[in-house]
Amino acid sequence: MQNELIINSVYIVSAALFIFGLKLLSHPSTARKGNLLSALGMLLAICITLIDQNIIGYEWIALSLGLGAVVGLIIAKKVQLTSMPEMVSLLNGVGGLASLVVSLVMLMSGALPAYIVIILLIAIAIGGVTFTGSLVAWSKLSGKMSILIKSKAMVFKGQAFANSILLLCIIGLAAAAVIMPQEYVYAFIFVGLCLVLGVMLVLPIGGADMPVVISLLNSYSGLAACAAGIAMSNNLLIVAGALVGASGIILTSIMCKAMNRSLSNVLFSGFQAVSGETIKIEGEIKAISCEDAYYTLEASQSVLVIPGYGMAVAQAQHAMKELQSLLEANGAEVVYGIHPVAGRMPGHMNVLLAEADVPYELLLEMDEVNPRMENYDVAIVIGANDVVNPAAREMKGSPIYGMPIINADLAKNVFIMKRSMASGFAGIDNPLFFKDNARMIFGDAKESLNNIIRQFAD
Ligand code: TAP
Repeated sequence: MQNELIINSVYIVSAALFIFGLKLLSHPSTARKGNLLSALGMLLAICITLIDQNIIGYEWIALSLGLGAVVGLIIAKKVQLTSMPEMVSLLNGVGGLASLVVSLVMLMSGALPAYIVIILLIAIAIGGVTFTGSLVAWSKLSGKMSILIKSKAMVFKGQAFANSILLLCIIGLAAAAVIMPQEYVYAFIFVGLCLVLGVMLVLPIGGADMPVVISLLNSYSGLAACAAGIAMSNNLLIVAGALVGASGIILTSIMCKAMNRSLSNVLFSGFQAVSGETIKIEGEIKAISCEDAYYTLEASQSVLVIPGYGMAVAQAQHAMKELQSLLEANGAEVVYGIHPVAGRMPGHMNVLLAEADVPYELLLEMDEVNPRMENYDVAIVIGANDVVNPAAREMKGSPIYGMPIINADLAKNVFIMKRSMASGFAGIDNPLFFKDNARMIFGDAKESLNNIIRQFAD
């Protein structure tokens, strides 16, 4: 009784730390503190589990805590920022696997009421789908198993039919497992089919839709933990699972909105990249030297910087910060326009610019910069492509038609820093490059920025 009181009190403290942590994570200036608070909540939760001897022995918990901390530290130190979505995907996967294993062990622990068996089967199903779905998402993003799993949507004839049959079998096996809980064979086949379902659900998704899927799988991993928590009457697991489930679904919805897609469209229709040939773009490409770009920038009063994935590749954020300081010293106002899906993960640009000490208040959202676009003397597009593609506004046949973009083409002048005429993530041509007010600055973004910076010094 005494123990139970202590455990539940610490659980409440942990849950409060998770919630405060989440709140602080919503702003870049407090995000580190939020991360730390949430980690502290998790450490407390794990440590208090030591008191509950019913789970497993002290030695095992201490060993896994130590091992987990070492592995986590190594991975976090080694991972490149551009590979974060892959890592998140793997972490979601192991979260799902943990819920699956815990629920399966409990299912086999003896006579359980039918409603607990049902909840455990739900936890196993969501955990299984999350585990294999996340592994497929990881291989699509990393390209590490490209012989087997292609990054683009893998669609085949009869896929929907096969999935429906699979789903029916899963429901049938779940019913058998509830009616005959001692016959573990049904539960084992059920697990196998749920794992197959995870693969089948993520295979037909590809291209620009992957971040949405990862966020959705994140939400699933939370729901699986929540279901396992209900079955085990573990209050903290219920709260933590619900928090992950809810925040994952909110992020999923934000990303769908930013890409102007519905969730069902993302999950079931396969992102189709259309080649440039189908859309006729008029105008001509005009390149500009760094020296000429400097003259325009030097005479500018307001400059909008629109970063994209190429800024991350070139690691050009520090050079951009330096140019920002020079422009400001020259009397210009410089702000950054951040598209919600610029780069390859949510908040990608914010993290890079924070690393270069760009003040947070200079980072404006798409909705803040678009209405003022005509007022910017120059919009500098650094390695962004899809998020400034006016085809989303102008070309009905384009696969990104209707996606909200930053309207860089409406600024007085647009400088686009990229290495070639290659397309962006969505694989489609960009009419922005052909507009009268657009000038291409070809080359690595960091080198181009450094060249312009040198002009300021001369
Ligand atoms: P993209 O459309 O992918 O375009 C990036 C551009 O950067 C490319 O056209 C590339 O052109 C250029 N680039 C690459 N390396 C460069 C370098 N060293 N120096 C200069 N330029 C370089 O990027 P975006 O506009 O940020 O759009 C993001 C896309 O990714 C969207 O389609 C989005 O849906 C998708 N996506 C987003 C996320 C999230 S959550 N942010 C996750 C996954 C996918 P060159 O090769 O010619 O240089």
